[in-house]
Amino acid sequence: MRVINLKDKQSASEHVATEIVKLIISKPNLVLGLATGGTMINLYQYLVDLINANNLDLKDVVTFNLDEYVGLSSEDKRSYHEYMQERLFKYNDSWNDNNIHIPNGVGPNLQVEAFNYENQLEQCGPIDLQLLGIGENGHIGFNEPGTPFNSQTRVVNLTPSTIQANSKHFDDINDVPIQAVSMGLSSIMRANHIILLAFGENKINAVKRLLQGDVSPELPASILHQHKNVDVYVDDVIYNKLK
Ligand code: F6R
Repeated sequence: MRVINLKDKQSASEHVATEIVKLIISKPNLVLGLATGGTMINLYQYLVDLINANNLDLKDVVTFNLDEYVGLSSEDKRSYHEYMQERLFKYNDSWNDNNIHIPNGVGPNLQVEAFNYENQLEQCGPIDLQLLGIGENGHIGFNEPGTPFNSQTRVVNLTPSTIQANSKHFDDINDVPIQAVSMGLSSIMRANHIILLAFGENKINAVKRLLQGDVSPELPASILHQHKNVDVYVDDVIYNKLK
């Protein structure tokens, strides 16, 4: 696991966006694993600008998002479907809807849909590059503490701390979904290359535990120590606390 400090969120996001663009240029049918959340916002801004500046054709790029809230339809402003539209997909017409995969959060049998999502991932994969944020409790995707390392895409319960952290995107904490459909830890680990981004005060503890603690389901992100190709991008705020 490599730890890379590029000073701040902006520089790290620009760097990773540039890497993604280079990958798309060298492999137009890149399979890209995408994350949402506050951490990714700058990265997607840079990515949109670079995609358009380089006139990239994205029709063969395949994307898989990590997760979606249970109970929010794809049109719901607070869903991750909408997040991806608003932050990335709507800015370039060459994205191919058939190649964009985001778990469905609404339907009578989400377990079956999750199972099918995992199968699609198997068929289209492996993911060339998986982007990850990290929760304050060490989750990746919505794989909360205690998640088995062999987990696959499924419906998960969110912990009170995750519900609290997510409440900043909702008017009322009672509106925050308590479940999500999330790729599992083993789904994530099949990616060829993983980039985890973590910035700011709130993530110091999780990153410290990741880099200095045990490999254990109690810190789901610690599974990444068992992967050969992981880059962790942090900012000065976190890096200075690691010494
Ligand atoms: C989002 C996801 C989550 C977030 C994590 C950090 O798709 O899978 O693991 O990456 O909760 O969220 P932010 O970036 O909002 O701090």
